[in-house]
Amino acid sequence: MTIRPILIHPDPRLKKLCDPVAAIDDEIRKLADDMLATMYEAPGIGLAAPQIGVMKRVFVMDCVKDKDAAPEPMVLINPEITWSSEETNVYEEGCLSIPEQYAEVTRPAEVRMRWLGLDGQSHEEQFDGLWATCAQHENDHLNGKLFIDYLGAMKRSMITRKMEKLKRERAREGKEPGLA
Ligand code: NI
Repeated sequence: MTIRPILIHPDPRLKKLCDPVAAIDDEIRKLADDMLATMYEAPGIGLAAPQIGVMKRVFVMDCVKDKDAAPEPMVLINPEITWSSEETNVYEEGCLSIPEQYAEVTRPAEVRMRWLGLDGQSHEEQFDGLWATCAQHENDHLNGKLFIDYLGAMKRSMITRKMEKLKRERAREGKEPGLA
């Protein structure tokens, strides 16, 4: 397992539509392992492939909050939302690609998703609570959409400016190889 560097917004790769995965092979299994390791290390509750610069429709999540509870790592390949509730929920969201910035986002409270598992089988499950919010947030990443795209233009550009500053600082410290 390899901890991969997480791209920081703004980055053109975070704005692109990702490609479907054609087959579950060693490359995808390695990608899933690396993504879970990178997510847990961050730490975060979800991570999408484009956030590590891989333009494929894959995300991982584990929304178990209790540190003493068993982890529930999930790998969703080619996910699709097949149903969304009319009832909505508001969560204060953050993103590993937009560190230390949080804002309230309204989304359907429950969603049903269908995806391909690492076992090559089709899975379908209904998510609620934090799992539903996380699944929708990560699914958005595969379509080049970030949680700040749900905010007003003022708030969004304020956050983007902060991230540009953060990237300049990291580049100076030599932490952002892409910019150094
Ligand atoms: Ni995110």
